[in-house]
Amino acid sequence: MEFNIASPRYILVGGGTAGRIAEVLGKFGLSRPLVVTDPMMVSLGLVNRILEPLAKAGITAGVFSDTIPEPTDTVVAAGCQVLKSGNYDCLIGFGGGSPIDTAKAMAILATGDAPMSAYKVPQVNDHGALPVIAIPTTARTGSAATRFTVSSDAIPDEKMLIAGLGALPLAAIVDYELTLSVPKRTTADTGIDALSHALEAYVSRRATPYSDALAVAAMELIGPNLRQAYLHPTNTTAREAMMLGALQAGIAFSNASVALVHGMSRPIGAHFHVPHGLSNAMLLPAVTRFSIPAALPRYAEASRRIGFARRNDSDERAADLLADGLAAWNTDLSVPTPRGFGIDPAVWQAKKDLMADQALASGSPANNPRIPDKAEIIALYDAVWGANA
Ligand SMILES: NC(=O)c1ccc[n+]([C@@H]2O[C@H](COP(=O)([O-])OP(=O)(O)OC[C@H]3O[C@@H](n4cnc5c(N)ncnc54)[C@H](O)[C@@H]3O)[C@@H](O)[C@H]2O)c1
Ligand SMILES: [Fe+2]
Repeated sequence: MEFNIASPRYILVGGGTAGRIAEVLGKFGLSRPLVVTDPMMVSLGLVNRILEPLAKAGITAGVFSDTIPEPTDTVVAAGCQVLKSGNYDCLIGFGGGSPIDTAKAMAILATGDAPMSAYKVPQVNDHGALPVIAIPTTARTGSAATRFTVSSDAIPDEKMLIAGLGALPLAAIVDYELTLSVPKRTTADTGIDALSHALEAYVSRRATPYSDALAVAAMELIGPNLRQAYLHPTNTTAREAMMLGALQAGIAFSNASVALVHGMSRPIGAHFHVPHGLSNAMLLPAVTRFSIPAALPRYAEASRRIGFARRNDSDERAADLLADGLAAWNTDLSVPTPRGFGIDPAVWQAKKDLMADQALASGSPANNPRIPDKAEIIALYDAVWGANA
């Protein structure tokens, strides 16, 4: 067996570690950062957790705080303008997945003048213009540890996956204290996304012994702690476990890839502006049921690790409990169906053919244990439309 392992060169993990940003830059001889963040991080004062220690260390950072949830090519282009107008030597992505993905996309797009679509998969982007330091403030952490960034092209409503080592942060600081203020909805969405990273990495056709170990550890941390963090936002034990689990899940899927849930989820996000974790959650129970027959022992083991099944349950029973448990979580975490989210039924019907094409084109469904054809993807979009199972 041959495989490669990609992860940031340096990851600092722990409560309060964001305050050590200057030390992390110093390890790499960096001193002129552009911080890429969003208006919420500025208004909550969270970004000061890095700006103040930087100032104390005599480092003046530029700040681009115009990122939006689910980044677009327009925002990335605006960020690139700011980047080119200053003498920066690195980008610090500070915030949820959106500012971090924006920083990563900026690092790649700033290598030339081509439009974003020139960089999307299957193009491989192993060189970024500048290194990225990622500091996540939500417990999804995928973006902080992966060689992927996702952005929408505002015109044709397509979420573009851009991949390569140029999108892999040089370093990450994973400080769960930054997540204590995450609103309940985002806690649920990001937590389910982290769980789907671990589960999809574990069942992926590209799983390796390395990604398996991380995926399993992630499922064991996220399983018992996701609802705790959602119900009790200031529970530091649950927040810390979620942050570490999300990090492990991120490294797992960066090496094993995601599969059908993510492949089908991106078009829902692009066409209907459903947050990424929420569209994953809408799909997770039905896609899991669809996929179980092709990898029963893997799904059964995942069910045991997450805590839905007991060690001595048969594989059939454990896999059943997984699909049921994921559907029950959607109820507990108030995940709506696409219909419940308010999507116009006529538009959903009209777009599902295109969404299936886009899902297939992303390549992710080919990593799924059961590889669907277009008709099966459309049938899954039909199945999840109004049913939470
Ligand atoms: N590159 C990857 O590998 C990867 C992996 C997973 C997700 N993603 C991408 O990440 C994006 C979504 O990221 P996200 O859900 O983490 O969040 P986000 O960055 O879109 O933020 C969601 C909301 O939560 C707020 N928020 C973030 N942290 C907060 C905090 N600590 N306190 C209070 N409010 C806070 C933000 O301001 C925003 O309003 C999507 O674009 C998705 O495609 C990328
Ligand atoms: Fe994801």
